[in-house]
Amino acid sequence: MLHDPNRVYVFDTTLRDGEQVPGCQLATPEKIEIAKALEALGVDVIEAGFPISSPGDFQSVVEISKVLKDPIVCALTRANQQDIDAAVGALKYAKRPRIHTGIGSSDMHIKYKFNSTREEILERAVAAVRYAKKFVEDIEFFAEDAGRADNVFLAQMIEAVIAAGATVVNIPDTNGYCLPELYGSKIRFLKENVKNIDQAIISVHCHNDLGLATANSLSGLINGARQVECTINGIGERAGNTALEEVTMILKTHHDLNLHTNINSKHFRAISDMVSDLMHMPVQPNKAIVGQNAFAHSSGIHQDGFLKHRENYEIIKPEDVGVDSADIVLTARSGRHALKHHIERLGHQLERAVLNDVYERFLILADEKGHINDEDVILLVSTVEKKTLV
Ligand code: KIV
Ligand code: ZN
Repeated sequence: MLHDPNRVYVFDTTLRDGEQVPGCQLATPEKIEIAKALEALGVDVIEAGFPISSPGDFQSVVEISKVLKDPIVCALTRANQQDIDAAVGALKYAKRPRIHTGIGSSDMHIKYKFNSTREEILERAVAAVRYAKKFVEDIEFFAEDAGRADNVFLAQMIEAVIAAGATVVNIPDTNGYCLPELYGSKIRFLKENVKNIDQAIISVHCHNDLGLATANSLSGLINGARQVECTINGIGERAGNTALEEVTMILKTHHDLNLHTNINSKHFRAISDMVSDLMHMPVQPNKAIVGQNAFAHSSGIHQDGFLKHRENYEIIKPEDVGVDSADIVLTARSGRHALKHHIERLGHQLERAVLNDVYERFLILADEKGHINDEDVILLVSTVEKKTLV
């Protein structure tokens, strides 16, 4: 059913799974701002909210639906008619609406969350998809806690919801439990054992409780999934979701995987800053792709190698992800080469002996201060130059 078998659809849930995080709640105008930025970034699906959860969230889905032109606008529901009715109402202005409905699939959830049985859960799953399908053509079904579900039962559930009309089947590792091989083999099992699987797109939705969300998503894609659910900066429940910028940049960097998205990575830094500011959620400095230090080289060995040839220490060009340039940070771990480069960038050419003198003073100051800035360098150079003139 897909035109291009190697195209990976990007489903962004910053405004739903991301916005669930305590302290990250947004007002409708802020959500619209982020939704427009996601559209410009090139995401295929924007999960705009969970309309039954609050009047504010309902309204946000309505307003986002009005402004977006290209992406599919998706609304989350549990597997019941009331939730689905709310989603249908909230999506009424969407040009391309999608309902995302689902229910638990692991025995843990079936027993301790729903106090139910596999048979009953299966019936509820099918009934929800059939009901949603009366209003909207594009139905995504999520099998919550699929990461811990029995594969044979999961396959039975997925086959039944596709037969009921699901166009996308989401296999969430809700608790971030899986290892990449385990998650990838689950997707492969579904590809090989669900008779009607070619009538739907398999979606991966991974949480980061063990720091494996991106690795697990990638494993799912390698094994046949063609939609990835993710958030900007990896925000989301508990330890977060797969980071959009990470998983899409991996696909862009590893051409050998032969998987591609519609994402324009040049927007990454700007949208990361926007989400971080609006959600009051700082980005850790060492965060891949969008962290402050992602392109900062600070040790002498790395700086020397980088200055000789960028690609010695650079697998991603900073400009490809919206960062102006790599940064050579001057600290007590920096070498002469980095200091010389910095001094030249500031417009000074120093004799070898003078540079050695500046470097010695630089190390003493760097031990004291930690980070040396342009003003410090200029002062050091002028002090040594004055001394040389005397
Ligand atoms: O993690 C999860 O299982 C979810 C579902 C609601 C899709 O967020
Ligand atoms: Zn989730």
